[in-house]
Amino acid sequence: MPARKESAGPAEPVITLRDVWKTYRTGKIEFTALRDISLDIYPGEFTAIMGPSGSGKSTLMHILGCLDHKDSGSYVLNGTEIGDMTANELAWVRNQEIGFVFQSFNLLPKLTLLENVALPLVYAGVKRHERFERAREALAAVDLVRWEQHRPNEISGGQKQRAAIARAMTLKPALLLADEPTGNLDTKSAGEILKVFTELNQAGSTIILITHEPDIARQAGRIIQIVDGRLVHDSSGRNAPPRNQPQGLPADNQER
Ligand SMILES: Nc1ncnc2c1ncn2[C@@H]1O[C@H](COP(=O)(O)OP(=O)(O)O)[C@@H](O)[C@H]1O
Ligand SMILES: [Mg+2]
Repeated sequence: MPARKESAGPAEPVITLRDVWKTYRTGKIEFTALRDISLDIYPGEFTAIMGPSGSGKSTLMHILGCLDHKDSGSYVLNGTEIGDMTANELAWVRNQEIGFVFQSFNLLPKLTLLENVALPLVYAGVKRHERFERAREALAAVDLVRWEQHRPNEISGGQKQRAAIARAMTLKPALLLADEPTGNLDTKSAGEILKVFTELNQAGSTIILITHEPDIARQAGRIIQIVDGRLVHDSSGRNAPPRNQPQGLPADNQER
């Protein structure tokens, strides 16, 4: 496992991105999805990422979650440069440090909720008895214990997403990433999911959530906006504009 840097003084960022670019190549077609993204996320922050469809939000999330590679720039997660890690170290980081929640829940249909939530613990090598104990604790935190023997097709969308959050949290990751987690839910269920995220954040979790809903973004302490692959606004004022783009430059000068 990669060593973590111990910090003395003020908290170190969980995430430090510098000058990150990403271009997709499909045959002869190229599409640059991220342009020069620099971003710091500090422990305990609740950040919402907003932006039009196709602006690069999911691409950014996949890079943050180590599900995809950047082309250039630097990504330091918990003090370790991702680019320096071996495949095994990366797999470990994905399992131990990062929890994911997706719009489509991604629960396994043949497993009960308890088994779904215990799954990350299987990969982490936790013993069976302890797995179910810890999975039950995670289900309790999202108020689903009495549904633990049910399968995903027997519960509502809101319940599925709560189970998915429990699964993301079983290993108590440093970072919780959610890509439009309320996109498939009715307003009431979305409100419940938002409440779960807010409670997790109050208990200390660092959360990054992509959303189209201004109401949901407002609940996060920090809002970042992405347009055409660029970070164009950061409500914290810390990361915008990017370092090498002085404020006030005419728009047509901003291409590199
Ligand atoms: N795997 C891929 N291969 C090629 N192009 C992709 C791929 N994933 C995303 N894109 C393109 O990159 C752009 C940004 O996509 P995405 O990050 O999913 O945007 P968002 O989540 O903001 O809607 C889109 O134009 C999309 O078509
Ligand atoms: Mg997306």
